[in-house]
Amino acid sequence: MALVSMKSLMNHALENKYAVGYFESWNLESVLSVIDAAERTNSPVIIGFSGMFLGNDERKVEENIYHYGSLGKAIAENSKVPVALLLNEADKVSILINGLKAGFNAIMYQDPKKSFEETIEITKYITRTAHYVGADVEAEVGELPNADIASNTVKGGELTDPDKAEYFVEQTEVDALAVSIGNVHLLEGKKSELDFDLLKTLRKRIKVPLVLHGGTGISEDNLKEAIKLGMCKINVGTVLKRVFINYIQTYLKSNNVDSIDPHEVIGKGGAKDMLCGAREAMSEEIIRFIKIFGSENKAKMM
Ligand code: 13P
Repeated sequence: MALVSMKSLMNHALENKYAVGYFESWNLESVLSVIDAAERTNSPVIIGFSGMFLGNDERKVEENIYHYGSLGKAIAENSKVPVALLLNEADKVSILINGLKAGFNAIMYQDPKKSFEETIEITKYITRTAHYVGADVEAEVGELPNADIASNTVKGGELTDPDKAEYFVEQTEVDALAVSIGNVHLLEGKKSELDFDLLKTLRKRIKVPLVLHGGTGISEDNLKEAIKLGMCKINVGTVLKRVFINYIQTYLKSNNVDSIDPHEVIGKGGAKDMLCGAREAMSEEIIRFIKIFGSENKAKMM
């Protein structure tokens, strides 16, 4: 199959009443894990990386967005299922523009420090640029609260105002809108409650596909109900990292790696390779979401 547009995946999902998953990656093993899961279930998928993390000023090594764009594009082009490549939630315009040059065919700008008016102006520029090269743009109106693992609390956030959302989409001409309807970023150990009345209102008034971030912290029932009401793209991140870390922690506790050939532990790809094991564990978790989202076997229809 091929690299396809995020818009086409969302429209197919809308028409066929399922949601396409965006499963966030951070390196080679994680992005391959997403593709493994999508191919095993014959599901369309959105792969990608966090623009905020890749562009994070605290990184020890400054990352080159071309490496990530080229990697993602090559993976998408060689995949057996339709794949879109998203540079997600970047707060720096330069990363997004370079991301487009690097091969991402979908981008999302997000900077909660900017005012609503400033965000509209910046998003207009981003949309014009992305559409010129045939790429899609996602944006968010409202703001998801963030869960704080250390203090077990949920901080900040603002529900999506339908008037503002409608105005924003008209002004910016974005292709997809992420909404804040009770969903929470980074929520582990408990589940958020979605506001379905707000979702129904937004679906009526917003002309573009809607996106649900914070997939980790949403119950299966809430996910399915949201999809029934027309949510057609769902983002999942935190739980995938948790599964990856848990696998490695368990591996290191139950194996004396000092006595194993290091090639066997990292790099050879066999039964003792802990990165392969973590990749497989992460894939299983993605397959669980793909089944909830209803995107299994939908690649065959495209
Ligand atoms: P979680 O990390 O809460 O699953 O959210 C992921 C996300 O929304 C990425 O955009």
